[in-house]
Amino acid sequence: MISKNTLINLAELEELVERSLDKTTLEPSHFDYYRGGAADELTLKRNCQAFAEISIWPRMLVDISKRDMSLSLAGQAIDMPILIAPTAFQALAHSQGELATAAAAKKLNTIMTLSTLSNHDIEEVAKAGNHLWYQLYVYKDRAITKDLVARAEANNYKALVVTVDSPVLGRRERDIRNQFTLPPGLRAANLEKFALGNIKKNQNDNNKQDSDLASYIASLYDTSLTWKDLEWIISLTKLPVLVKGVLRGDDAIKAVAAGVKGIIVSNHGGRQLDTTISTIEALPGITAALEKGNSSNSYREVEVLLDGGIRRGTDILKALAMGAKAVMIGRPVLWGLALSGQSGVEAVLNLLKSEFDLAMALSGCGNLAAITSDLISREK
Ligand code: FNR
Ligand code: LAC
Repeated sequence: MISKNTLINLAELEELVERSLDKTTLEPSHFDYYRGGAADELTLKRNCQAFAEISIWPRMLVDISKRDMSLSLAGQAIDMPILIAPTAFQALAHSQGELATAAAAKKLNTIMTLSTLSNHDIEEVAKAGNHLWYQLYVYKDRAITKDLVARAEANNYKALVVTVDSPVLGRRERDIRNQFTLPPGLRAANLEKFALGNIKKNQNDNNKQDSDLASYIASLYDTSLTWKDLEWIISLTKLPVLVKGVLRGDDAIKAVAAGVKGIIVSNHGGRQLDTTISTIEALPGITAALEKGNSSNSYREVEVLLDGGIRRGTDILKALAMGAKAVMIGRPVLWGLALSGQSGVEAVLNLLKSEFDLAMALSGCGNLAAITSDLISREK
């Protein structure tokens, strides 16, 4: 359903999906779950707007006849600094869900991060993908965490992403209004063996102020989690561990002290605490803190990634100029999936890749190392 003529840019893609909902498997309330943010959705908007406030100062007459955007991340060689962020319940968009997304990432030789709350499980997705990372939510029952980590490792996932911004779910008013729930037949597949695959609310719960997902998370996730527990998670695995959802420099320092190999600067796509700083505005504080702590190798080697509001090739150029090694995208992948399954996700990745290639060319950057901080300035 996606053709070259319909997919002109990612900024318009959400509207395109909204107009085409009747031709997709995505129901309006599920579309709302995907697109929505917390409360007034100010952070959701800020994530995109903040990129517009950054200017590029392009270099001229640089030989850009050969351009290379390949890199190595958490020890893996990939073709571009554009990764797939973990997003839950992809079968709402397409029956192949996470399998289609993993296959698309494989085709583009980039990394897909599988959510703990996926509709296809760790084992199935491993067969469809290549460079896979696993995103961990920590349940109160520690046996579940051990099991999920062991399964990711046994199935050749290459890194563990621990999301730390969601001990409870943000207040998503669209989901409260819609009483968001999973349709019959869709489950949190990785949790089936613990009889926790069903997201349905307890029948006795009459609290209409929560979606079923918010109630599920409130009753099962470990809200007592601290940096000490992160050390415990790191001790469970040989895989490199990245922490996702850090916005403050002092937290970045604590993460490195706990032993993480990477930090994903993220506000969960504006879905958790509304009015938090946008991710691109948070990035300088994180890189500055890491540079300050630079006396040991662990700080120098930590890989910083960013997600939230990446919709243009120039957004990627800006994030890299400000110190990110790569970016992740969330919603655009879901829109591609809804419109055309695997080929839709490929179209989204290809479009962003070609826009980023163009941004590199027109700013005089033949490779990623050329994307330095002097290429940009922020308007005040
Ligand atoms: C998410 N995100 C997310 N993050 C995570 O760590 N685990 C998860 O299960 C989910 N689930 C999820 C579902 C949906 C529908 C969305 C939109 C997002 C957050 C995601 O990884 C990422 O941080 C944001 O989506 C990035 O922002 P953009 O690219 O959507 O603007
Ligand atoms: C979300 C959760 C599941 O953002 O991470 O919906």
